[in-house]
Amino acid sequence: MSGESYFLYHSIGQYPGKARDLAGAMAEFALSWGTADDGQWAYALGKRQAFIDRWRAIIKAPEGSTTTFESVTQAFHALLTALPAGHLKGRKVLVGADCFPSNHFLLQGLAESCGFTLKTVALRQGAAHVEDEDFLNDWTPDVGLALLTWVSSTTSHRINLPQMVAHGRRMGSLIGVDITQAAGLLPFDASAPEIDFAVSTSLKWMCGTPGAGVLYLSPRLIAHCQPELRGWFSQDNPFNWDITRFALAPDIRRFDNGTPGVMAALASLPALDWHAAQDQAHILAHNRKLTARLIDAADDLGLPLLTPRPEAKRGGSIMVRLPDTLPAPQVVATLRAQGITTDARSQTLRLSPGIMTSDAGTDRLIAALKALL
Ligand SMILES: Cc1ncc(COP(=O)(O)O)c(C=O)c1O
Repeated sequence: MSGESYFLYHSIGQYPGKARDLAGAMAEFALSWGTADDGQWAYALGKRQAFIDRWRAIIKAPEGSTTTFESVTQAFHALLTALPAGHLKGRKVLVGADCFPSNHFLLQGLAESCGFTLKTVALRQGAAHVEDEDFLNDWTPDVGLALLTWVSSTTSHRINLPQMVAHGRRMGSLIGVDITQAAGLLPFDASAPEIDFAVSTSLKWMCGTPGAGVLYLSPRLIAHCQPELRGWFSQDNPFNWDITRFALAPDIRRFDNGTPGVMAALASLPALDWHAAQDQAHILAHNRKLTARLIDAADDLGLPLLTPRPEAKRGGSIMVRLPDTLPAPQVVATLRAQGITTDARSQTLRLSPGIMTSDAGTDRLIAALKALL
């Protein structure tokens, strides 16, 4: 079966029938949009809402708390610039050195205009992920906001979220979580532990498309946030045309602005529908079985493991360091030529088995790596 040796769920998720479902959604949209009647907006906004509702189910978020953004970075930007004036002024924003680089670039760029100091928790010498203990040590009462990376994209290290959140509450900080690397694979509940916001995107374990990012913001905080970008869709009633009476919607819709770009939500919805119909425990058990197999193989092959061994400390990937004598692009290309799909960041080979990856496909990968080494 094609896809048996597909290991890119940290990047783009696949499921059987994805191409067909995606083409069907696009064809249905084309038919609606290209028909000379007035059904377009009810159709397109309905699909967007269905996409949001699928996401709410994945993260157990209440109605009115979740909306769409093009990317994680854009969602995080919207949140940061919507915080009450002065909330971050003179305080620290805390982030780990192993966060998704895009979030770090954004924070570096906003530090001056928002008036905060960016504190980046360092990696220990030779380490690939930030230790929770080091993050907690740097998390002092002057931290106005901390961005936690639930699972790292280059090691698959998973933080101890309940412990981090409990500490953050004692420090009085706003707590946000980038859940991109594990959302849809590991269970997540926005209120247990109770976080303030979460950012994610749909193209990994949920198998969605690019452009389908989301922001969850705790209903406790929504009324305190004034998004910088606003427009007719930020209102409770977008059809209020009275230019002297603009009022932000009471819920997360205040983070919308002009006409919503519905395409990514529409294109991702069949994948989210597929995902919702699956046995989630089975998907996770399958990943756990194959990742355990990959850990054993890394040990056998003498490949240093960058991912923590205990299941509770890792997301859905196994990441190993390739020897310097074997350039990663060459390894990825050799595997590709054998129908085995992987990727690399520097000399880190990233392996994420999902629903299409099989035992036999994993054995093929291991045999191919053995031959290469
Ligand atoms: C942890 C994490 N955050 C964010 C992203 C994507 O961010 P953006 O949607 O801004 O490209 C990724 C993509 O790999 C990721 O792994």
